[in-house]
Amino acid sequence: MSFSLVVLAAGEGKRMKSERSKVVFKVSGREMVNRVIDEATKAGVDKVCVVVGHKAEMVMEAVGNGVEFATQLEQKGTGHAVMQAKEFVKNSENVMILAGDTPLITAETLKNAMSFHLDNNYSCTVLTAVLDNPFGYGRIIRDDFSNVSKIVEQKDATESEKAVREINSGMYCFKSVELVEALDKLTNNNAQGEYYLTDTLAIMKNAGLKVGAFTVENAVEISGVNDRLQLGEAEKVMRRRINEKHALNGVTIIDIDNTYIEDDVVIGQDTVIYPGTTLEKGTVIGKNVVIGQNCRIVNSKVGDGCDVYYSTMVDSSVDEGTHVGPYAYLRPNSKVGKGCKVGDFVELKNAVLGDGTKASHLTYIGDATVGANVNFGCGTVIVNYDGKSKHRTVIGDNAFIGCNSNLVSPVTVNNDAYIAAGSTITHEVPEGTLAIARSRQEIKTDWKDKRSK
Ligand code: UD1
Ligand code: CA
Repeated sequence: MSFSLVVLAAGEGKRMKSERSKVVFKVSGREMVNRVIDEATKAGVDKVCVVVGHKAEMVMEAVGNGVEFATQLEQKGTGHAVMQAKEFVKNSENVMILAGDTPLITAETLKNAMSFHLDNNYSCTVLTAVLDNPFGYGRIIRDDFSNVSKIVEQKDATESEKAVREINSGMYCFKSVELVEALDKLTNNNAQGEYYLTDTLAIMKNAGLKVGAFTVENAVEISGVNDRLQLGEAEKVMRRRINEKHALNGVTIIDIDNTYIEDDVVIGQDTVIYPGTTLEKGTVIGKNVVIGQNCRIVNSKVGDGCDVYYSTMVDSSVDEGTHVGPYAYLRPNSKVGKGCKVGDFVELKNAVLGDGTKASHLTYIGDATVGANVNFGCGTVIVNYDGKSKHRTVIGDNAFIGCNSNLVSPVTVNNDAYIAAGSTITHEVPEGTLAIARSRQEIKTDWKDKRSK
């Protein structure tokens, strides 16, 4: 049974007070519209069409390839929006309709709704929820046999209809052919002068078709985001969902409400995450790792048994048993080996450090390939930029770089070489030698006495 998806994302979203389209706002690092598409895809829809209008290009860019788009030039209501996707709808037996601003819906709920729709052979199944405060939502009006007879919008509702607490989620499954027929009969004779998708239910019912309601157990799943307050609430729910999943998988999250993890992040068992930490897309954390507080790790890999304190890592990796921070900054394309130390105020960029290499404090290693068991003294700078271009420095295994040295790139320091503290190295240092590149100390005797005369 083919099931396609239409996502309504043409509306303006005035209450966000933004230059951007509402549906491209992110919740836990992923655009709302993409979250909706992801969940429906997991639930089994095989084709997707997104109806765009307001800020169409922005929405299309966020959604990307692999889906169709239909354009609604003027926003004349949810029914009018679906009309723009009519040709797409005709290509499958059933269609699910979702809004692009309901990021908390889950694949499980959508899947159950789809089965309910098919098993009962309904022409339309609307997903509903029972709310303490139904204000603003369309109300589900049932007949004497408790079957759905219509949906009434808040603005069109009578007092007794307003008292109904069962609401329309704005999510539906339809038989495609019957939806298209009902769309053709829609009028805009209502309080908002719009073509309401919700009116198709009464049209179907009056034509003798079966209309059903699938009540969502967890009403939070259907909450829509209309302003930034609701965006914050949705973020909170999503954050909790993701963090609970990790906690139940054996990760200790010290403060579950104050740890920010994006969906696809992988974290190993017995890892501990301290508050204020953000783990972004593409990040993989090993087992028995300690992270935090206040780390930001983006698309990076942290091996088993590492610890990372108060640090930032972007597009980088550290292997097993390495210590990072406090206050280290690993900029893109830094690859740190096993058992290393990247200590306080150490910055790496486009650099490789071999196993066992240590830069304990106040060091900049940019555009460099460093061997194993190298020791960087405090205050070392790889001088990688000459004002025009970047150059690369190579340091062999077991080299010892004295404190406060400058290595002017491009330069090579071979295996087992030593650099005296305070040196400015501009030429290759051969294997096993000591390079001293500073003036010798001189002592002026009787200095104080001479000055006072
Ligand atoms: C709609 C439902 C209401 C339901 C509520 C659930 C209708 C008439 N009402 O109301 O019963 O309780 O959702 O949240 O359907 N859109 C377009 N083009 C348009 C108008 C809207 O693409 O011309 C899109 C919006 O971008 C949005 C979705 O449709 O993603 C819902 O539109 P919105 O205006 O938010 O509808 P509600 O008033 O919330
Ligand atoms: Ca809405």
